Amino acid sequence: MSHQTVIVLDFGGQYNQLIARRVRECGVYCEVKPYTTPLAELQKMEPIGFIFTGGPNSVYLETSPQVDPAIFTLGVPVLGICYGCQLLAHHLGGRVTDAQDDSAREYGKTETFYDASCPLFKGLPESGISWMSHGDYMEKVPEGFTLAARSQACPNVAIADERRGFYGVQFHPEVNHTDHGVAMIRNFLYEVCHASGDWTMGDYKRTAVAAIREKVGAGRVLLALSGGVDSSVCAALLAEAVGEQLTCVFVDHGLMRKNEGDEVQAAFQSWAMHFVRVDAEARFLEKLAGVTEPERKRKIIGEEFIRVFEEEAKKIGAVDFLAQGTIYPDVIESGAGSAAVIKSHHNVGGLPDYVDFKEIIEPLRLLFKDEVRQLGRELGLPEYLVSRQPFPGPGLAIRVIGELTKEKLDTLRDADAVYREEIASAGLDREIGQYFAVLTNTRSVGVMGDGRTYDYTLALRAVNTSDFMTADWARIPYDVLDRVSTRIVNEVPGINRIVYDITSKPPATIEWE
Ligand code: XMP
Repeated sequence: MSHQTVIVLDFGGQYNQLIARRVRECGVYCEVKPYTTPLAELQKMEPIGFIFTGGPNSVYLETSPQVDPAIFTLGVPVLGICYGCQLLAHHLGGRVTDAQDDSAREYGKTETFYDASCPLFKGLPESGISWMSHGDYMEKVPEGFTLAARSQACPNVAIADERRGFYGVQFHPEVNHTDHGVAMIRNFLYEVCHASGDWTMGDYKRTAVAAIREKVGAGRVLLALSGGVDSSVCAALLAEAVGEQLTCVFVDHGLMRKNEGDEVQAAFQSWAMHFVRVDAEARFLEKLAGVTEPERKRKIIGEEFIRVFEEEAKKIGAVDFLAQGTIYPDVIESGAGSAAVIKSHHNVGGLPDYVDFKEIIEPLRLLFKDEVRQLGRELGLPEYLVSRQPFPGPGLAIRVIGELTKEKLDTLRDADAVYREEIASAGLDREIGQYFAVLTNTRSVGVMGDGRTYDYTLALRAVNTSDFMTADWARIPYDVLDRVSTRIVNEVPGINRIVYDITSKPPATIEWE
């Protein structure tokens, strides 16, 4: 697969993945690499441009992340953002110091004035709000650079050396708070790096299909399909590439949302591949009977999943490839520290030890979540699968607090379905990051008609988040909450009280268990 590539060199800033996503949204392929990556390795990727990210350090400290200065002799354009801008200045003969004077430190939204003759700001208005976050100050601009933007407090908010294609901005063009930030990134890519815009999901699909065919040959592929976005798109891509050589095993643990198992089956049944749905609800419920502790539930579900999958895999016999729906954010190594940030996907974790196969293939390894969804659409998957919100591997087992019963799961499924329906009809389903209902184990007294009730309390949860590490509770309009509450207590037996969870993460987590 050869696409023009931009390298985002990661110095430990908090928006680095966002930069890469923005570049790709502009139609240019991009990878994030730790700043410690040897230059020779970066050169092998034949980048058409580098973007140096922000970072928490000061460039003039000896211990701060640096670049190999030879990077500036490659004839490849560089855009430095925040720390990246200071690094550029520091290495090319400028001087960066601690902004002693508080007025030179800038944080947050700042009115910024642009020089429209600079390629980076071509076609933009003369001024706009930009998102600043820097305590250091570029005291001396390096030779060969001109000033390309300023703010009230700072004369050199952006620097440019058009001849060499080096640009630096003190603000963050990648965040939504910066007006026209994406236009600036686009300008860097197309005006400075002369990108051709060869990164589209249609192209990606064609090249990925060809690459999978070449790799798999006449071999057989096995995939554990969970019905989540990643494994669904992975299944569709593999089916397109190798058709009948693919077997998808969908372990239906009975802990999915209302109708979800049937939806997954309906979506895949007609594809040219082997689709196996294992109805394992009874097994899972039996194993989970009487268990109340959340981590214990997780462990049981993880283990049972592997057991069921293993049994199915044995029936299929030896396969050549085990496919996994790993996506790019799971494989990016951060530039800050040496630890790789890898999420453990509990629902596939551990499988390789149990199944007879030769090699793992991960056809979505290079894609961000939004790209995975786009690819799914490209492959013709139904929208309800493609735009599905994240759903934890243990499913509703961690949304029924305490002991699980089939009855409680059904109650939660019905209530959750009403909640989702109302959120969608209010047009909020694409806006809210994740939303779901939780069946608490608290019962309280209510009155229905003329009678007393003593039923369960249902909690509604909705959060907005960019990375699921932190999250803010969503401000759902009262009238929407009102409709959800009225409908659930009227339509779902066993629930007589609804509460709305107004805690963010931290201190709470997104799920209740
Ligand atoms: P928490 O509750 O930790 O959730 O704030 C963060 C995100 O992870 C999901 N989640 C899980 N996903 N297995 C999964 O595959 C799990 O055991 C699990 N627990 C939480 C949660 O839905 C949210 O998106």
